[in-house]
Amino acid sequence: MNNIEIIHGVGRTSIFVSSFRLYITNMYLQLVKSKQVEFQNQEEKDYMEFYLKLVGVHNQSDHLNFPKFYDPHAYHFLNTPYAKKILSDTAYSLLLNPEKSEELEKFLNEASLVEAWSAIFGLDNILDIGIRTKFIDDWVLENKHLKQLVIFGSGLDTRALRLPLPSTMTIFEIDLPHVVEYKNNILSNIDVGKISKATRHSIFADLSESQWVSELESRGFNRDYPTLWLMEGIVMYLDPQSNSNLFKNIGLNSAEGSKVNVHTVGTMKMGISLKFEAENPAAKRLGLKTFNWGMLNDEFGSKFDNPSEILTEMGFNKNIKTFNGSEIAKILGCSEIQNLLSEYTIGEK
Ligand SMILES: C[S@@+](CC[C@H](N)C(=O)[O-])C[C@H]1O[C@@H](n2cnc3c(N)ncnc32)[C@H](O)[C@@H]1O
Repeated sequence: MNNIEIIHGVGRTSIFVSSFRLYITNMYLQLVKSKQVEFQNQEEKDYMEFYLKLVGVHNQSDHLNFPKFYDPHAYHFLNTPYAKKILSDTAYSLLLNPEKSEELEKFLNEASLVEAWSAIFGLDNILDIGIRTKFIDDWVLENKHLKQLVIFGSGLDTRALRLPLPSTMTIFEIDLPHVVEYKNNILSNIDVGKISKATRHSIFADLSESQWVSELESRGFNRDYPTLWLMEGIVMYLDPQSNSNLFKNIGLNSAEGSKVNVHTVGTMKMGISLKFEAENPAAKRLGLKTFNWGMLNDEFGSKFDNPSEILTEMGFNKNIKTFNGSEIAKILGCSEIQNLLSEYTIGEK
């Protein structure tokens, strides 16, 4: 299979999300550099020192109380010719004045990865993903006693590696074949350490079909164990029938005590990018529009934004709760971050 497939179609959205995590990681590294972070252990300290040397730090002027996490793999996923092509294609698509093409090319050649990606995306989008990552990290950690975690549309999510998860947990990541291959090729060529002790399985599957269930079973999934089911950044890409089948299959394969977390984006909000464009000096100088998810309309499959009903039908009717991004930001102590697009519905069987 060819890595180049990642450049086109829905798989490239996994690169976009990874670039947001690179940005937050960079914010975190700034704290490390200015010695404002207390390390959990020596391994983390050594790693951060190594990482600082590898990627350097692009100084950001934001003084927000941002969600604190780092994703040490994001840099590697973005530092490939394929991801750089996605970056430049996206940047050119946002260029308002074609006469600035040469200047844009020069910028893309010279800027650090974090600097280049942050000229494209608004800070509101980046923080939305930051809050989302941290909220879901915490949800997974709170439930780490469960033996199985299934991540649908896992993309370049690296929870299975970077979170302190126990060896009793097995994680099944499901995505399209070329995305899984892209990720695994990079992971097999880098050495950034693995904090998680969980076992990770990668499954190639198109979630608009149902073969993922037999694939899961063939990799050791046991439907008698309570399972954590995570849908982050995926239901909006599936059509209504596929979503309905997906939830039905989850219901059929969930033992009592299983839990779900469904991330949705209010459809009306997808085209919105609320701030930052005027604040990013490179974007301003080059005259770049700010990317917004509404530009990916071709890839969206549904307006699925109210999972509570279907969760109840599937028997996930205990403790169903929907949080909006601003509520989560408050819980995480980042209440100055507002106007977030994402919502999260959790439930338990
Ligand atoms: C926006 S990314 C989110 C990735 C990851 N969950 C995260 O939050 O970092 C969407 C992911 O869904 C995957 N995806 C979209 N449609 C899919 C399908 N029909 N079957 C499997 N994966 C799909 C894409 O390949 C991509 O990796």
